Amino acid sequence: MGFRKDFLWGGATAANQCEGGANEGNRGLANVDLMPLGKDRYLVGTGKIKMYDFDDQHFYPALTAVDFYHHYKEDIALFGEMGFKTFRLSIAWTRIFPNGDEEKPNEEGLRFYEDIFKECHKYGIEPLVTINHFDCPMYLIKKIGGWRSREMIDYFYKLCQTLFERYKGLVKYWLTFNEINMILHFPFVAAGICFEEDENETQVMITAVHHQLIASAMATKLAHEIDSNNQIGCMLAAGSYYPETCKPEDYWKAICDNREVYMFADVQARGYYHNYALKWLEERNAKIPFKDGDKELLKENTVDFVSFSYYSSRVSSSDLSKGQQSESNIFASAKNPYLKESEWGWAIDPLGFRSTLNELYDRYQKPLFVVENGLGAKDVLEKGSIHDDYRIDYLRQHIQAMKDAVEKDGVDLLGYTTWGCIDLVSNGTGEVKKRYGFIYVDRDNLGNGTYQRIKKDSFYWYKKVIETNGEDLY
Ligand code: BG6
Repeated sequence: MGFRKDFLWGGATAANQCEGGANEGNRGLANVDLMPLGKDRYLVGTGKIKMYDFDDQHFYPALTAVDFYHHYKEDIALFGEMGFKTFRLSIAWTRIFPNGDEEKPNEEGLRFYEDIFKECHKYGIEPLVTINHFDCPMYLIKKIGGWRSREMIDYFYKLCQTLFERYKGLVKYWLTFNEINMILHFPFVAAGICFEEDENETQVMITAVHHQLIASAMATKLAHEIDSNNQIGCMLAAGSYYPETCKPEDYWKAICDNREVYMFADVQARGYYHNYALKWLEERNAKIPFKDGDKELLKENTVDFVSFSYYSSRVSSSDLSKGQQSESNIFASAKNPYLKESEWGWAIDPLGFRSTLNELYDRYQKPLFVVENGLGAKDVLEKGSIHDDYRIDYLRQHIQAMKDAVEKDGVDLLGYTTWGCIDLVSNGTGEVKKRYGFIYVDRDNLGNGTYQRIKKDSFYWYKKVIETNGEDLY
């Protein structure tokens, strides 16, 4: 029993939060480069203020990130030492097509990822590639408004074709878009969208996400045509909503909130928009911009597996104004009095992880892949060591919950990659001091430091977890 023999243990990163080297290798400018540290980050991410160019008042953490661009060999060797079976990373679109619409791809960018994949295979690590983790070429945002425009599908398709052909035999696990439901919460980050005054924001978002869903289905089709070994997954930001009380109104609110989480993954996994989604849009005077052939394309090209991030459960209250709000990965949530919270206010709920795994498996009946889970915490470097027992504790409880879902509930699970296996820039806050890694990076929030890599206590712990295929969690 326990996890399958070929269970894919590993860690996850994203290009913009990890690579740095923003001005190297002929890379173009992307939305994520312009996400500043500090209070304006949220307003830029939600598309409420436009940040189309750098200014002197802000610091932009993605430009150097943790410099994986120059350290990837060392970092992958450390992942190999931990025994990783897989490493999740994303492609920076603007390394391959700097503006997004070039005729020919940028060879330097293609070579960079090819070297990474070859380096992974040296250690028996299977790359798990997110084609789009929150990045969009700024050129296309300025020219056509990012994913508002249907033209984006062609540019994305060309990117996919380039990747599938070039990396055939090197990569077989692909995710099309990171956290497809994030568009409802962080639209500039998820789709390069900034809102104009008085426009119907739901209409803009559904238009953009419909384009992404079509692009995702086309990519799925193409990946299967180019190499029948390719396995394509969708990816959603999961974490079930509980009703705050057994008051029927709270339960109903939880149903509605959960539907917003599933709404787009439903399309990728089942092949169509559910009736509740159509009604949800109708209520908001918005419509899906279907074109001829879209419905068939979605129906015929569903994903092979469903991947997701899980950090915490959430709470729905029919009266949000009365309760205290809790932070929950940019999603609104009422506070859960039964749970402890991380230093950033995210509720810690391992049993909620088991529930979420079950809900997703019940709903989709496709293999699942946990591609993000972890604890963002402040680490203290003491005489060259980091004693992060709080992180070990969080991960131990979550892995146990995942094991219960597999062993006791029969969930079919392909693998588990912890978020930020090496410290990186936080998507929500832009900080580096919100650390998730097994590997510490000597860099502060403002980019100062040696960028030296240091193994934390959790590094040795996770190595043992992998060695024993999750049997020894102590
Ligand atoms: C997920 C994203 O939403 O959560 C990651 O896919 C992100 O990009 C992660 O980093 C953790 O959130 P944060 O805000 O702590 O970085």
